[in-house]
Amino acid sequence: MSAHAKNLSARSVVAIYPGSFDPLTNGHLDLIFRAAKLADRLIVAVLNNSQKQALFTVAERMEMIRLSVEGTENVEVDSFDGLLVDYAARRQAAVVVRGIRAISDYEIELQMALINRRLRPETETIFLMAREEFSYVSSRMIKEIFSLGGDVGSFVPPLVSERLREKLQS
Ligand code: PNS
Repeated sequence: MSAHAKNLSARSVVAIYPGSFDPLTNGHLDLIFRAAKLADRLIVAVLNNSQKQALFTVAERMEMIRLSVEGTENVEVDSFDGLLVDYAARRQAAVVVRGIRAISDYEIELQMALINRRLRPETETIFLMAREEFSYVSSRMIKEIFSLGGDVGSFVPPLVSERLREKLQS
């Protein structure tokens, strides 16, 4: 085997799927499972952003993700603050995965990807297209529907529905 081929076979792809995940949706979950097939290790990283008013704490969001991906060996759930590229450097991740639902996502995602590339060229952003049936699902809409008494059961994993109900009661 050539040195180049050896290097390639020894290479392990660590990818980060960052987001707010407030809360995790079926669209996020589908993306996690698909991205986990492409990377050797996938780190789902919840942004710890004190400036953004969130419904669930970072710990609650991480737990919901952890329980929803249980059994998927190469997926790890973590949180981060500060710049995504600095976190990627710390975790030695070469890839950032983001989902695109509709063309309206593209502009902001392109901007983030280009900024991140300027800040750290070693990190490549790759985009996965959301499955059609999840292309209109967003955490923001789910919170709105739920707070107005709507049924979000088809948009989020059952565990998340349950946690939303508990939040409302508390
Ligand atoms: O789920 P979201 O809210 O669309 O995720 C946005 C996220 C967390 C990917 C983005 O806000 C982010 O990377 N924040 C970390 C701060 C950072 O690195 N900013 C510079 C790149 S725009």
